[in-house]
Amino acid sequence: MRIILLGAPGAGKGTQAQYLTEKFNIPQISTGDMLRAAVKAGTPLGIKAKAVMDAGQLVSDDIIIGLVQERITQEDCANGFLFDGFPRTIPQADALKEAGVQIDAVIEIDVDNEEIIKRMSGRRVHPGSGRTYHLLFNAPKVEGKDDVTGEDLIQRADDQEDTVRARLKVYDEQTAPLISYYKSWGEADAASAPRYVYIQGVGSVDQIR
Ligand code: AP5
Ligand code: ZN
Repeated sequence: MRIILLGAPGAGKGTQAQYLTEKFNIPQISTGDMLRAAVKAGTPLGIKAKAVMDAGQLVSDDIIIGLVQERITQEDCANGFLFDGFPRTIPQADALKEAGVQIDAVIEIDVDNEEIIKRMSGRRVHPGSGRTYHLLFNAPKVEGKDDVTGEDLIQRADDQEDTVRARLKVYDEQTAPLISYYKSWGEADAASAPRYVYIQGVGSVDQIR
């Protein structure tokens, strides 16, 4: 099973990915998590990406496409994978299509902007695994600690309200066009296009599952 999760920052892609990857026994490929790991490790890519991410802008298509192409050839992707946060621009979606990577489903998670701002301010993450919590809506068992490892949770550098608003603008301009990209592909050629699934992302985490 090869799945694309499409949705604005804070729509709940990472949260629902945890459930879907278990259900289908496939790895989660979050380009955001990969970039954050590079930032933490201080690699040349990480150094370059940090300023872009902190400003809420997108890392260049070439870098992202290279990262993803390398990742999907790894052994654990033989059974499929779930893309979380990729593709995020038309050129990224075109690169996937041109590489002949067949996607089974595009799942759009739709949440309005004010709800997103609320979610981001309360988000806490476990940097080692990418596991995501919310202070009110999805609290860890022990305050400030990851449920699995007991390690500290952190707040993401790009979760301040101003940066979140910049990320939402970038989403509207550069990523939202992928909605009609996949829908019109399905209308033109249903056999080759991924199935398009729309999910209203407001409601409890379990309801959305
Ligand atoms: P990335 O890490 O992908 O961030 P994003 O797309 O902005 O999405 P988020 O991770 O912020 O949100 P999410 O949808 O996963 O929501 P979550 O489940 O955490 O990218 C970061 C940066 O990296 C980008 O800005 C860019 O610079 C760069 N980048 C990454 N990929 C790139 C690409 N392909 N091309 C170029 N640049 C790229 O949920 C949010 C919060 O809400 C959590 O606290 C959660 O607990 C809570 N929550 C979730 N569901 C619910 C619910 N139903 N009810 C209440 N609360 C909920
Ligand atoms: Zn995420």
